[in-house]
Amino acid sequence: MIHVAVLGYGTVGSGVVEVIESNNEAVSAKAGEEMHVKYILDLRDFPGDPYEDKVVHDFNVILNDPDISVVCEVMGGVGAAYQFTKQCLEAGKSVCTSNKELVAKHGAELLEIAKNKNCSYMFEASVGGGIPIIRPINKALTAEKLETISAILNGTTNYILTKMEKEGADYSETLKKAQELGYAERNPEADVEGHDACRKIAILSSLMVGKNVDSEKIYTEGITKITPADFAYAKAAGMTIKLLATSQASDDGSVMAMVAPALISREHPLAVVNDVFNGVFVTGNMLGDVMFYGRGAGKLPTASAVVSDVIDCARHIGRSSIVCIWDREEAKLVDISETEKVFFVRAEASAKAEVEAAFPGGKYLTAEGRTEDFGYFTAVMKEREFEEKCAALGEKILNRIRVA
Ligand code: HSE
Repeated sequence: MIHVAVLGYGTVGSGVVEVIESNNEAVSAKAGEEMHVKYILDLRDFPGDPYEDKVVHDFNVILNDPDISVVCEVMGGVGAAYQFTKQCLEAGKSVCTSNKELVAKHGAELLEIAKNKNCSYMFEASVGGGIPIIRPINKALTAEKLETISAILNGTTNYILTKMEKEGADYSETLKKAQELGYAERNPEADVEGHDACRKIAILSSLMVGKNVDSEKIYTEGITKITPADFAYAKAAGMTIKLLATSQASDDGSVMAMVAPALISREHPLAVVNDVFNGVFVTGNMLGDVMFYGRGAGKLPTASAVVSDVIDCARHIGRSSIVCIWDREEAKLVDISETEKVFFVRAEASAKAEVEAAFPGGKYLTAEGRTEDFGYFTAVMKEREFEEKCAALGEKILNRIRVA
């Protein structure tokens, strides 16, 4: 019998218990042994809950119980979650998590402890919710030299951008609706400012290059400045706007990673990833392009990914099932100000001559119903040079968005 403990009985925690208990026959068959949840750790009591008798308040009950071989850390945060995870791994108990903040910050260290203690630290649910992406990178794409990852990794912002595009509504109004529907948190900062996507692309980048990519050093920009006017120009150009998390590996081992809104062609496969869905577009040097698509958040999709890791651990009791390379050595991040790309500029109608003088060789864009401003695609140029020119033009530039 495989006894599992669940740390945190929130949305994902209750989903994990539901998946293990409701899909018990299938889950146990795949694990090779009967599996059950023995403990649920939470500060609260849950009177009337079908699993209320499993709730404990003292983490040591779980840590000191030799029956517990697999622990699901679905509490979130990097405080108690970090301490509990470390203690479990030190005790030889495998840990499966959806906690992207913890994985991004301490993943390399926790993987090392797990390997040394013949157990596993697994985090399929930390990126892309229910979409299989960690296991494919670690197990299916191993013959590849992965070159780039372009991804939509945050459901909340993708929902907001999709609604803005379809309904022509502004950002604040759409965020408010998303909050009312429960698609956005009361405090939406981690999502709308891009921090959540940043942690996720840091995890994928670390797996791509085998070294630690520090999420705090990744350039990150959110969606709060995107307007319906920007979408009008995107439409006129046959494009859309997505919050893209991108990562590119160089031959010298350095990584160019960033999170920012980007204009992408309607023809790009990520352009049809709408609402709360996520998509991860990976390019390998032999395979070429491959894309992963699905529900990037939500109770049961995320819980399903956690339980798939639990099953993997159950099949490897007494040994580590970790197959990824993620060293503690820091990967070198490329300074994005030295990288080159095309930029979209939306500027005051009166500033045409100045914009053209600042960005020679570009292309004008008009959009239906827009008279007070105009759109302009620059020629390929360095980020640093672009920023300098925009600063000189000041408030005449109403918005600027990178073109992917
Ligand atoms: N807040 C996240 C999102 C949840 O919107 O995608 C999943 O990590």
